[in-house]
Amino acid sequence: MTLSPVSDRLSRPLGSLRLSVTDRCNLRCAYCMPEEEYTWLPRDSILSFEELTRLAGIFAGLGATRIRLTGGEPLLRNGLPDLVARLATVSGVTDVALTTNGLLLAERASSLKRAGLSRVTVSLDTLDPVRFRTLTRSARHADVLAGIAAAGEAGFGGTKLNTVVMRGVNDDEIPELLEFGRRCGAELRFIEYMDVGGATGWSASNVVSRAEILERIAGRYGPVEAQTVPGSRAPAERFRLEDGTTFGIIASTTAPFCRTCDRSRITADGTWFLCLYAADGVDLRALLRAGAGDAEIAGLIRTVWERRADRGAELRAALPERGALYAIEGLRADPRREMHTRGG
Ligand code: GTP
Ligand code: 5AD
Ligand code: SF4
Repeated sequence: MTLSPVSDRLSRPLGSLRLSVTDRCNLRCAYCMPEEEYTWLPRDSILSFEELTRLAGIFAGLGATRIRLTGGEPLLRNGLPDLVARLATVSGVTDVALTTNGLLLAERASSLKRAGLSRVTVSLDTLDPVRFRTLTRSARHADVLAGIAAAGEAGFGGTKLNTVVMRGVNDDEIPELLEFGRRCGAELRFIEYMDVGGATGWSASNVVSRAEILERIAGRYGPVEAQTVPGSRAPAERFRLEDGTTFGIIASTTAPFCRTCDRSRITADGTWFLCLYAADGVDLRALLRAGAGDAEIAGLIRTVWERRADRGAELRAALPERGALYAIEGLRADPRREMHTRGG
């Protein structure tokens, strides 16, 4: 079903859809899941592959032709290659990518490739297994490295590595991570620590800004050239060193990209969020399960997107004083406020 593309109140199209396929995760990254206990989405609320594929088709018809599978950890969802295969053949869908923590990637990379997955992004915050244990409460650092290697072996190109830079935690590893990326043919993206829901330990003093990351890289490697692509809606700004190494910075905390944001996200229980920071979402599961037709659902999505004026990260950046977005009680009241439920 191809419809006319839709634009919001800031003239931003609907371009990219992030589908969270599970709220579960097999890591406990300090910037995302620092608590001991979590409230999980009820099992019967989790969308089936049929429901996800149907939504993907409706969104693609409205312009969201790029899909990214997230979680939680998306590889914990049974049969993910089957979902990829379904999504890859949805009319209008041009790109199906995956953001993963890499733990299970070594065993799944080739089946995902065969199913039609276009690209993978793997989180890699440290090269040190001991530090990894502190940061994620897992001893499986070697599995992440094996996952990154397996992505290359399975034939994936354009692999990206995401590093959330935290002061005093991993900010001393910026050069080593860049060099690791260069060696394995993957592009490093340094991400500013964000005060998203779930980051209950966030404080401004732990953020290493885009400016500081650039300064440190230039101090070590010499001039850094910006590789701006006019009209780009990607969250990462790309840069190039004199030796040709490229890397990205995602500066959502100090230099948000809200003005060009064409993305929205659906949680594993079918709640559609128009902004990473939005307090509430739209319950698409209820519509699907009440038997609504595609045209009715598309009509609702269009109406809601046309009213969209969200600039969550910009509003956060404008606050005179900034702390964690939600305290733990607020997160327990609604698990959809968590980054790991909403899709990182
Ligand atoms: P591509 O555009 O395909 O490269 O994907 P991506 O960069 O969105 O992928 P990824 O899942 O790796 O996201 C990278 C990081 O960008 C996330 O971990 C977040 O820190 C940040 N990010 C993702 N989505 C949003 C969003 O909607 N708003 C803001 N402010 N930041 C986001
Ligand atoms: N700040 C920045 N990025 C975060 N992610 C999760 N929590 C945060 C945070 N507080 C992102 C990481 C990871 C992805 C799944 O989610 O980039 O790679
Ligand atoms: Fe870490 Fe991603 Fe799991 Fe959050 S969802 S704990 S960032 S691996």
